[in-house]
Amino acid sequence: MHVTSLVSGGSRGLGLAIVERLLERGDEVATFSRSGSESLDRLGERHGHRLVAERLDASDADAVRGYVARVGERFGRIDHCVANAAIAHEGVLATMTDAEIDLMLAVNLRGSIVLVREAVRQMLVNRSTFASVTVISSVVAARGSPGLSVYAATKAGLEGFAKSLARELGSRGIRVNALAPGFLETELSASLSEEDRGRIVRRTPLGRLGQAADIVGAVEFLASPRAGFITGQVITIDGGSS
Ligand SMILES: NC(=O)c1ccc[n+]([C@@H]2O[C@H](COP(=O)([O-])OP(=O)(O)OC[C@H]3O[C@@H](n4cnc5c(N)ncnc54)[C@H](OP(=O)(O)O)[C@@H]3O)[C@@H](O)[C@H]2O)c1
Repeated sequence: MHVTSLVSGGSRGLGLAIVERLLERGDEVATFSRSGSESLDRLGERHGHRLVAERLDASDADAVRGYVARVGERFGRIDHCVANAAIAHEGVLATMTDAEIDLMLAVNLRGSIVLVREAVRQMLVNRSTFASVTVISSVVAARGSPGLSVYAATKAGLEGFAKSLARELGSRGIRVNALAPGFLETELSASLSEEDRGRIVRRTPLGRLGQAADIVGAVEFLASPRAGFITGQVITIDGGSS
C-alpha cells in the first residue's frame, strides 16, 4: 500500500531531512516552501514521481487549501502530515513590530493549523488506517527563552492545538503529537553567537547541539504503525538539556 506524507517547509533544514527520510522509506511525499533549493531538486531527480514540491507561502490559507487538494488528487490520499515550516524573528518584545508579530503568528500558528485542517479533512475522507499529524514545536514553548517570546508563544499554541486535536480525532484513528527539538544546527539558528552556542553545549548532557538527523527518526516513528498507541504527546529531543 502506498503511504502519502505531507511535510511543510521541505526546502532545507529539518523539513528537507524529513522529506528525504520519508522518501527513502518509500512514502510518496508532498512538500512546499516559499522558495525551492538545489537539495530538493536533487531529491526530485532521484525519486521522480514520488515527490511533489511546490512554492507557496504557509500564511496564504487559500494557497495551502489548493495545494492540499492537489496533493489529494495526485496521490489519492494523505496519511501523515508534518507541520514543520516556521520562522523565528529574534528580538525583545519591547522592540518587536506589529508586522513581525503578525508574521510569526500567521506562518507558525495559523499556517500550521490551516495546513493540518486541510490534511485532516482528507484523512477523514480516506479513512486511512494509521493516519497521523506531527507538529514541530520547540523546547522554548515549555522552557522560554529571552528574545523568543513571540516564537515561543506560537510553539506553545501549537502544543495546545496538538493535545486538543488528539482528543478530537482519537476516535477516528488519527493520532496527533508534537516534537519539541532543542537548538538545531540549521539556518534558523544560524544567528546564534559562539558564546550562546558554548552555553547550550555546556548545559546539554550529550554535549553538542542537535542536528536535523537527530529529529527525523522520531518523525518517521510517529508516522508509522509502531507509534499506533501514542497520541496527544509532546516529545522533547534536546540531548537532555531540559
Ligand atoms: N533550528 C532550530 O534550532 C530549531 C529548534 C527547535 C525547533 N525548530 C523548529 O523546527 C522546524 C524546522 O526548522 P529549521 O531549523 O529546519 O528551519 P529553517 O532551516 O529555517 O527551514 C524552515 C523551512 O520552512 C520554510 N518556510 C519558512 N517560512 C515559510 C512560509 N511562510 N511558507 C512556506 N514555507 C516556509 C522554509 O522555506 P522558505 O524560506 O523557502 O519558505 C524552510 O523550508 C521549525 O518548526 C522550527 O521552529 C527549530
